[in-house]
Amino acid sequence: MGRFYLTTPIYYVNDAPHVGTAYTTVNADAIARWHRLCGDDTMFLTGTDEHGQKMAEAAERNGVTPQVWTDRTSARFKEAWAALDVAYDDFLRTTEPRHYRTVQSFLTRIYDNGFIYKGLYQGLYCISCEDYYTLEASDSGACPVHHRALVEMEEENWFFRLSAFEDRLLEYYDLHPGFVTPETKRNEARAFIRGGLKDISITRTSISWGVPVPWDEGHVFYVWYDALINYLTAIGYGREDDEVEHWWPHVHHLIGKEILRFHCVWWPAMLMAAGLEPPHHVHVHGWLLVGGEKLSKSLVAAGGVRIQDISPVELAAHFGVDPVRYYLVRETALGNDGDFSIEGIVARYNADLANNLGNLVARVAAVIGSKCAGLGPAPRDDGPLAAVAAAAVAANREAWARFAPHRGLEATFELVGATNAHLEAHEPWKMAPGPEVEAVMGDALEAIRVVAILVSPVMPSVAAEIWRRLGLAGRPDEGPLEASARWGAAPAPRPVTRADALFPRIRDDA
Ligand code: MSP
Repeated sequence: MGRFYLTTPIYYVNDAPHVGTAYTTVNADAIARWHRLCGDDTMFLTGTDEHGQKMAEAAERNGVTPQVWTDRTSARFKEAWAALDVAYDDFLRTTEPRHYRTVQSFLTRIYDNGFIYKGLYQGLYCISCEDYYTLEASDSGACPVHHRALVEMEEENWFFRLSAFEDRLLEYYDLHPGFVTPETKRNEARAFIRGGLKDISITRTSISWGVPVPWDEGHVFYVWYDALINYLTAIGYGREDDEVEHWWPHVHHLIGKEILRFHCVWWPAMLMAAGLEPPHHVHVHGWLLVGGEKLSKSLVAAGGVRIQDISPVELAAHFGVDPVRYYLVRETALGNDGDFSIEGIVARYNADLANNLGNLVARVAAVIGSKCAGLGPAPRDDGPLAAVAAAAVAANREAWARFAPHRGLEATFELVGATNAHLEAHEPWKMAPGPEVEAVMGDALEAIRVVAILVSPVMPSVAAEIWRRLGLAGRPDEGPLEASARWGAAPAPRPVTRADALFPRIRDDA
């Protein structure tokens, strides 16, 4: 049994969850569910990033204290993830006492190890990014992402000696070719390190909304520096409920491409400085775009698409939770940018879910009802679909293991398509009841059972409903996959239920 610890970035709570943040979260949830299905010892962490100037400003604008503001907005993330059927094992808020304790003990360790020192910091700062820019990297003095003016900041700060880790980081990259995926992102991170690393300022005195620096009162840690440590907070670093040895470094961080530098350069260096192993794996995905623009909170605020129009919760209420999850996982490879559109959801829904999967389930139940007295027959050991199903299971294993769930779904829907083609080739609805129709339908039924298992990480409710209609006991995601997806693993004959269409077609012109 493998050990699998998966994280999403922790989301800023200065605004509501949107389709972009849902993209990361739903994909991560599906990956975690896949590993649970395989029987891996799995832990899935998400949460909210609640410190920093941006949050303090948002609270002030809304006339409440930062704590009241973050309580309110963090709760919206929990609600959104519940609405999207996200089954996290832990939801971490950086304002929790457990996080303060871990941050302080982790950073004290780095301080004691001699990698933190005091110096003067001057630079151009973007409050939306919570990050400094050099003049060259700026857009004539404005933030290249948010297009707002950068502010000149000068502070006496504590610095992290990032520059000391250039060689060790490069060596780590060389020894661990799979550390950062996809390859293009690995190259980007390595090039950044090769370009030379500057020490980073990790504390602030200009604000008090942050984790206090234990050895220097009046300073709080810079929001990014406290945020990254959340991945250790959840496993109890520096506390009595310490599970670090169990989970570290078996961790996989799923992140968006704009936060590559923090996760692929800073974070491994911080861990090295504290005497811990860098994370096992960072997978970097692209952005969902609307008409070519990043679907981000700050850009939306500047005009154009309003984020409220594409709330993932509203989408789920309209299209159903599982179809939205399916779209978010299937449409865009984790690594590429993708275009988000309502037309895209409708097209996927109609082609894959209504016409292919939904149609298959309906047909099979109808023919078993009329030709097999409602009793689903056993499959043939050497039936034509057995090998197709085994290939789909193998392709899924390979795809999910390399964070390519869209490829897993593609393989599963090839099995759906092959099963529909099997029915069309044999036309069991024209056959008389008897062994011939039973053979055809036993194979089709078993293929659907395997499909229900394979889609369960992405569409848990749909999979459970198919399972129920197939007359199966337990749940499709019970696993372990090894045994449950074996051809012929379920008892037969079983009563098969006919019911309403799983995915009523959506009119494209609606
Ligand atoms: N708080 C930091 C992360 C700290 S992790 C230690 C942060 N938060 S964020 O809310 O701005 O964005 C977090 C993540 O949301 C991004 O990395 C990305 O994974 C996801 N996305 C936000 N907008 C997105 C799109 N338009 N498309 C795809 N993912 C998007 O950065």
